[in-house]
Amino acid sequence: MNPFKLIIFLCLFAYHFSLGADEDLILENKINSYLSKMSLEEKVGQILMVEIGYISPEEVQKYNIGAILNGGGSFPYKKNDHTLEDWIDLADEFYEASSKTSDGRKSIPVFWGTDAVHGHNNLKGATLFPHNIGLGASRNPQLVEKISSAVASEVVASGLDLTFAPAVSVPRDDRWGRTYEGFSESPELVALLGKHSVIGFQGKLGTEFLGSNKILATAKHFIGDGGTLDGVDKGNTILSEEDLLEIHGKGYISTIEAGVQFIMASFNSWNGDKLHGQKYLLTNLLKEQLEFDGVVLGDWNGHQEVSGCTVDSCAKAINAGLDMFMITANWRNLYNNTLQQVIEGQISQSRLDDAVKRILRVKLRYRLIQKGKPSSRIALNEMDHSDYKENRELARIAVQESLVLLKNNNSTLPLDSSSKILIVGEGSKRISKATGGWSYSWQGSNVDNSYFPGATSIYDGIAEVIEEGNGKIEYSEDGNYKTKPDVAILIIGENPYAEYQGTVENLLLTNVEFNHLDVASKLRRENVE
Ligand code: GLC
Repeated sequence: MNPFKLIIFLCLFAYHFSLGADEDLILENKINSYLSKMSLEEKVGQILMVEIGYISPEEVQKYNIGAILNGGGSFPYKKNDHTLEDWIDLADEFYEASSKTSDGRKSIPVFWGTDAVHGHNNLKGATLFPHNIGLGASRNPQLVEKISSAVASEVVASGLDLTFAPAVSVPRDDRWGRTYEGFSESPELVALLGKHSVIGFQGKLGTEFLGSNKILATAKHFIGDGGTLDGVDKGNTILSEEDLLEIHGKGYISTIEAGVQFIMASFNSWNGDKLHGQKYLLTNLLKEQLEFDGVVLGDWNGHQEVSGCTVDSCAKAINAGLDMFMITANWRNLYNNTLQQVIEGQISQSRLDDAVKRILRVKLRYRLIQKGKPSSRIALNEMDHSDYKENRELARIAVQESLVLLKNNNSTLPLDSSSKILIVGEGSKRISKATGGWSYSWQGSNVDNSYFPGATSIYDGIAEVIEEGNGKIEYSEDGNYKTKPDVAILIIGENPYAEYQGTVENLLLTNVEFNHLDVASKLRRENVE
């Protein structure tokens, strides 16, 4: 590079760097300005994220609550048959109620968090994508980034702000009921896909970061959720600090580098110590060594599992470095007890201020005030909510790339569409068996195909191709057939589950509709491929 150009480059770099430093300074001054106008009561209200089934917009205003969430299977106005408009209407109600304090002063509104973990999966009609385990099999970071970006647009379209994703869990024992929420058992692959997922949700640092079609992301569950003894959910991860970081920490390093704004504390313990009360990991490691400057969020009443704590009282979690409780029914008691703990000095004013400053920092970065109430946001109104055709096409590509071919004996595949095909197993017709947990309901169960408008079952997808090719298709629940087929497709899978309800003693597939081995052997004896 010639000297003149080098000088220009260095000047521009210095200017850009100073601009960044100036922006940070402006942001911090704004945060301090808001903080200085907040009463103690308003600060304590700000560190609560309350589930929408337990609080009204009026109470959010009265207590200056910082955030709201809907848990898996929790819908606006408790309506099972909710519409997109219900989500937007309720988001408006909470936004407007929280935009001013109870005595009428301007306030920073709440944000609304949801588990959009494989699509905006609580919203009927949203596009669903493979769970992380399937995306891990794709090994395609660009695909993962596109999917998170598509999910962000559908979350924005519903009036919400934050997703509790990506999980950067590294499942090490497949008996863990949340194995499917992890991208892989490879720390490196988890770090790569987690980083691109955050970029998809939030946008790249710099220009598009937290722009109009982007949402806040959460890396979870910090730290070691996938490494518990025997795969017990919320169990004990027994590792040296070095191994804990080496195996379970890379996804946090990569997502912090990508600008993730939330990190959710985990239910598990590290060497017998519950993470929600683990000061060394939450503060010294995460905030000081890894320099995370966003919000450390509790998991679902997770603070209550810390020794000496209850669901409505846990100074220890805040002192350990939790910045925001995730709380359900007991939020009033938790508010009152936490306020008392600050007054009595069990929680220092500086720790409370640090937590509130982190929450304000994220709200200001996300430009929560400038965005205006959800229904007025441009991105929401620009989007065609009627048919997420592009997103569904992306989902199809994701399914293709998530498929793993173990063997292709006798070159059975690709199938000839003029063949006689037998499809065995009710899982071929029940869409919820393919979507799994976190699909409309928390467990993904008790939802029939009508909950997935626009989705195609495995049977229907194959039938469409075979009929186009003038082939024949027959469905069987147990492997018996009327017309001897050329090829049989056995659909085998677990019933949907989420979290601890999926943890198993061993990897034997139980609770199945037909005996896979018997049916496969019978068909093989009858020379069916
Ligand atoms: C759950 C899960 C967590 C989820 C949260 C909110 O218990 O552990 O992954 O984001 O609660 O639904």
